[in-house]
Amino acid sequence: MKILITGGAGFIGSHVVRLFVTKYPNYTIHNLDKLTYAGNLANLSDVENLPNYKFIKGDIVDAEFISDLFKNENYDAVIHLAAESHVDRSITNPLEFVMTNVIGTVNLLNAAKELFKKESSKFQKFYHVSTDEVYGALGETGMFTEDTSYDPHSPYSASKASSDHFVRAYHDTYSLPVVISNCSNNYGPNHFPEKLIPLCINNIKNNKPLPIYGKGENVRDWLYVIDHAVAIDAIFHNAKTGSTYNIGGHNEWTNINVIRLLCKIMDEKLNRQMGTSEKLITFVKDRAGHDLRYAIDSSKLQNDLGWVPSVTFEQGLNLTVDWYLNNEEWLNNVTSGNYANYYEAQYNKR
Ligand code: NAD
Ligand code: DAU
Repeated sequence: MKILITGGAGFIGSHVVRLFVTKYPNYTIHNLDKLTYAGNLANLSDVENLPNYKFIKGDIVDAEFISDLFKNENYDAVIHLAAESHVDRSITNPLEFVMTNVIGTVNLLNAAKELFKKESSKFQKFYHVSTDEVYGALGETGMFTEDTSYDPHSPYSASKASSDHFVRAYHDTYSLPVVISNCSNNYGPNHFPEKLIPLCINNIKNNKPLPIYGKGENVRDWLYVIDHAVAIDAIFHNAKTGSTYNIGGHNEWTNINVIRLLCKIMDEKLNRQMGTSEKLITFVKDRAGHDLRYAIDSSKLQNDLGWVPSVTFEQGLNLTVDWYLNNEEWLNNVTSGNYANYYEAQYNKR
């Protein structure tokens, strides 16, 4: 198969690209990424020379470019992860989220539809990677299932919900073979340090305040990023056309308890006196429209495809902290902005 993965230089996308290029050497994987601030080709330095991998720099908002790419490459499938992904950024710049997450997705759908209807087409799957945030917020009890109604609250989740609706509309209107998954909060290596866990790892390391929104009582359902990539692989290969799968680890934590656990792990690893890092916790103004609680019921995925998370939260958080402590250069390059030069150095000279 020849598969286009979008957003493969980002956090989750890089783990999906790595899994596919190494597990399926007979597949050809094209990674299409605009390399926004969130895209970092250093995430894929270990696989960038594999013969079945190719990086393509491009913007999914550019309809003509996307249309030409599909015409020239005759893909068998798309796994679409490219997006603006940070809720706080969506509150200050909603339009950017509409452009990439909605218009960009529709551009891909249009190109896939044109390819799919050709006599000579081999196109068989448009896999859209989405989020549990489309379902809105839960109270103290309950879980999101695949049948939960959409009720997004942030510009980010509204843009992702819109893209999900377009994907289903292309299935119902044009019979495009689509699959959608909605996943809970990911954490792990290569996570951009604007998001809660990597931000706090970096701040603990540098003895800086740990900003906790509101009282830290909001609940998120955390999943190790490699478990998400493995779920995407299972769904991509086995899900019925038109189906949706929720992905989550049954792993709910209040934000304050996540950060307390992280402080404990880092005090141990940095040989600091227990309790040192917790003193950095600083409660700050709450996020506007802050969803109280997310919790994913992933029993459909577990029952249909036998997927289960491979690590507990404590194990995954330990692996994550180890990764950040062992990859200081990655972290320094990301926080200083130097990582943007990776593309120039590695790709422009080819
Ligand atoms: P990320 O922000 O780390 O990466 C996004 C990638 O998309 C970057 O490499 C960026 O350069 C690229 N990109 C952005 N705009 C683009 C454009 N216009 N054209 C081409 N490429 C562009 O995001 P992530 O956390 O890895 O999330 C990946 C996907 O998974 C997103 O669709 C997100 O909504 C979804 N998701 C994320 C989480 C999570 O916890 N991070 C959970 C569930 C679902
Ligand atoms: O649920 C899936 C979603 O998880 C994905 O779709 C998004 O792309 C991803 O960014 C993530 O969204 P969140 O808003 O939940 O993640 P974030 O790391 O930004 O915040 C996690 C929680 O921590 C949330 O309740 C807000 C809070 N928070 C966040 C930051 C950045 C803080 O208390 N302080 C912070 O500085």
